[in-house]
Amino acid sequence: MLKVEALDAAYGTSQVLFGMNFEVAAGEVVTLLGRNGMGKTTTVRAVMGLLAPRAGRIAFEGRPIANQPSFRIAQAGLGLVPEGRQVFPNLTAIENLMATASNRSGHPDPWTLEKVFELFPAIAERRASMGETLSGGEQQMLAIGRALMTNPRLLILDEAAEGLAPLVRAEIWRCLESLKRAGQSILLIDKNVHALTRIADRHYIVEKGSVVWTGTSAELKADAEVQHRYLGV
Ligand SMILES: Nc1ncnc2c1ncn2[C@@H]1O[C@H](COP(=O)(O)OP(=O)(O)O)[C@@H](O)[C@H]1O
Ligand SMILES: [Mg+2]
Repeated sequence: MLKVEALDAAYGTSQVLFGMNFEVAAGEVVTLLGRNGMGKTTTVRAVMGLLAPRAGRIAFEGRPIANQPSFRIAQAGLGLVPEGRQVFPNLTAIENLMATASNRSGHPDPWTLEKVFELFPAIAERRASMGETLSGGEQQMLAIGRALMTNPRLLILDEAAEGLAPLVRAEIWRCLESLKRAGQSILLIDKNVHALTRIADRHYIVEKGSVVWTGTSAELKADAEVQHRYLGV
């Protein structure tokens, strides 16, 4: 579904990605794991067309998307829950959900406000509240709901549970598990190995802008040495 090959990216003269390689197949939940500053968000920016790659290929469903404008990439079916949530502060929860809603891929059973409210009852209760007045957890749920309302073929979440209380985190992971059961393809960027080996099928560990390890959840769980060396667990 998504295939990233030999991707290089830089900010000015400072190169951050050095031949990134990974792929996500339809129906899979895949992670990019790694410590802070390793290039995970930069990879997401390149995939979403927010940063022009220096070299390499990015293909989505067989079509090259590198160097296309972000809105085209979103229209092709990539939905992003960005690092730091970035909900629209001066729009209500409902307006946040409706702002980018669409069903371009012609999903037979598309996401609706009702379905998002069912997934996140907390958002249903705050539907008329401004984005900026929501708690961190509510904003995260709203950001996920907003991405779902675009009916993405691939949902990308960059540090979706970052900075949230343990109970709220658990709720986010539960939501992702239910999306996976429903067949949603997901690319998860995170540091929380323990929660993710439960949810994800496969993992890529990113170190200084390259993939240094890849394997299944069972392989990652069994490899204490890799977890310690690259993830500090
Ligand atoms: N806008 C930017 N300008 C310059 N350097 C940046 C910018 N964003 C990130 N970086 C640098 O790029 C590297 C990778 O960052 P990032 O992709 O955000 O890592 P991660 O998401 O894995 O924590 C870091 O060294 C970071 O300081
Ligand atoms: Mg990041």
